Amino acid sequence: MKSLSKNVSLAVLSASLLAGGTAAANSADILPEEKSLSNLEYEPLGKDELQTYKALNSYSEPGFIAEMVAAGLLPPVEERLPSEPLVFLEGAMVDGIGEYGGVFRHVIGGRPEGWNWMAGQHQGWGGINMAAQECLVRVGPLWQIKSEDQTGPLPNLAKSWEWNDNRTELTLNLVEGIKWSDGDPFDTEDVQFWWEDNVQDPDVSAWMSMDGMGEGTTMEVLDSYNFKFVFSKPQGPARVESLAYIQGCPGPSHVLKDKHPRYNSDATYESYRQSQPADMVPTPVLGAWVPVELRPDELVIMRRNPYYFKVDEAGNQLPYMNEMHFKLSTWSDRTTQAVAGTGDFSNMENPGNYVEALKQSQDPNSPVKANFGVRVLSWEVQLNFSESVGIEDDIDRELRSLFRNKDFRVALSHALDRETIGQSIARGPFSHPFPGGFSIGSPYYDAGSTVYYGYDPDKTSSMLDALGLIDTDGNGIRNLPETGADAEIDLVYDTTEPTDKKQVDAIVAMWGEVGINILPRAVDEIEPVADSGNFNMIERRHHWIIPTRQTCDYVPISANCPDWHPVDGDGNRDLFDWEQEMANAVNAFQETWEPAQAQAAVNAIQKNWTENVYTIGTVQAPAALLINKRIKNAHPGTPVFMFNWAEDNVIRERLWVAGEDQLEELLPGTIPN
Ligand code: GLA
Repeated sequence: MKSLSKNVSLAVLSASLLAGGTAAANSADILPEEKSLSNLEYEPLGKDELQTYKALNSYSEPGFIAEMVAAGLLPPVEERLPSEPLVFLEGAMVDGIGEYGGVFRHVIGGRPEGWNWMAGQHQGWGGINMAAQECLVRVGPLWQIKSEDQTGPLPNLAKSWEWNDNRTELTLNLVEGIKWSDGDPFDTEDVQFWWEDNVQDPDVSAWMSMDGMGEGTTMEVLDSYNFKFVFSKPQGPARVESLAYIQGCPGPSHVLKDKHPRYNSDATYESYRQSQPADMVPTPVLGAWVPVELRPDELVIMRRNPYYFKVDEAGNQLPYMNEMHFKLSTWSDRTTQAVAGTGDFSNMENPGNYVEALKQSQDPNSPVKANFGVRVLSWEVQLNFSESVGIEDDIDRELRSLFRNKDFRVALSHALDRETIGQSIARGPFSHPFPGGFSIGSPYYDAGSTVYYGYDPDKTSSMLDALGLIDTDGNGIRNLPETGADAEIDLVYDTTEPTDKKQVDAIVAMWGEVGINILPRAVDEIEPVADSGNFNMIERRHHWIIPTRQTCDYVPISANCPDWHPVDGDGNRDLFDWEQEMANAVNAFQETWEPAQAQAAVNAIQKNWTENVYTIGTVQAPAALLINKRIKNAHPGTPVFMFNWAEDNVIRERLWVAGEDQLEELLPGTIPN
């Protein structure tokens, strides 16, 4: 037991109590400089060099689809496409116009919960949701766009948008003539159902939070293809980014409306949420591939959507690949299989795999290419700040009040030797200390706004002493000043990821050294526990590098977030002033048209988060994208996580495989339904 003062003298205690307030303020360090491992290279493009919307002279489709048209089973391709489809421009394709056919093999660690994403269900992650869903706008491919063009998303289901003069109204114009994969038209009825009966229905936990478009925002439908948001105050271009990934992705109202309690008196909110179970396939989607078969714990098969609204410049309806597989395995296995060539894709994000995977991918005969990006993955410990949710006894109550004391959080930060934590997950130059907030790889990261409380266990001890956390019974664990109980804290983590397990082991040892006993609580799925608020601490990955993406997971922009600061049954919670400032800063970021003000808003988040140790960051690491060499049009500059995950960034609908390299399809010649 190092530097744990068992018999701290009153003199020392009162001296440090006097120092109390200033101790934390003076104890920050500078985050050490990092060396980037990124080898991503690309020429930035203008937004209009990537894609456009226009009618082409003629359209093509795979041979087996043309046969179905000839047999009267499907309408002709020009009737399935909008009159002006989204056209990907050839100049932005590294391998050019593609060939039809083949299979793209994903491996994922999640399991689909169901297909009702509008009601907050997940599909198992790893790109399966992004294969099925299309959103009003898109952010993934922004990594390739010139920085001066990067604010605001790319169009997608909405082909354009306009602001009124005082920027309190945003009118979005949908592409006319998009159809669901079962042929039903996509229009503002779907958008209205998404917004009014999901996002704005307090009994549905949609991925976009109720205030996700700003407090008090309403929607007005103008006609079948045009609608507008009306804001309570002027907004800026970044507000539109909230309508991308997961948040602004409508589901099929023609199927779901009848199952929603507002339209069906036999339905409940639970029956609505569960109304598209994972095995209810095919389910109508707007995405390039439609889920058609689920083999539990084994495989999800997706087939091309014959109504997909995107084409290449030669008029080929996309996607190029007919089939997509999601093998249901583990996240680590995703990397193992990509390296072995039995999977086609991995976001290599488990540092423990890096050395071996890199060694193997450097062999000229390796089936896979690896490209490292900047540091965008980080891990942290989240402390439950609620004074009521998930509190079972006086000890929990006392823990929560300690968590709410900044000195306690700073003290715990000083007890983490982040070098050692990093080396425990991967030997080598991969990890770097993470103080919380935005990772170094974020385009908005500002070192000057980052406060870091580095390794100094003596400081931890004196700070904990000053808080009255003294080991009064000599058992090596400090006692809580009020209840007198041992300072024992449960820490929830996900067992399926070795990266988390190793960090938890290190944290238990390091906090144990300063007299705080951590009780690891291993779970297979972290989300249900996190959502329930029934925990004191959680260790997990933090992936917030763009202020408008999954914002509600990180900052209290709405009542239901973040998980570690829930409101109680009466809708109450006591936000810290600086926490409220972070939420305000997110809004300021989305309200401004001035890049300097946008950056200032992000800096305010970074400063408040790191200075107050909103979460206790551990380490941050880069990730590498592994893609099988037979896959064409995978741009070598594609980042694993920048604006979105690589599954979106790499634009899968444009990927193709030369005929001789195509893998055999499991369901050749078939379409959904
Ligand atoms: C999981 C994986 C990421 C990425 C996302 C996509 O979170 O860990 O690498 O594949 O799913 O949603």
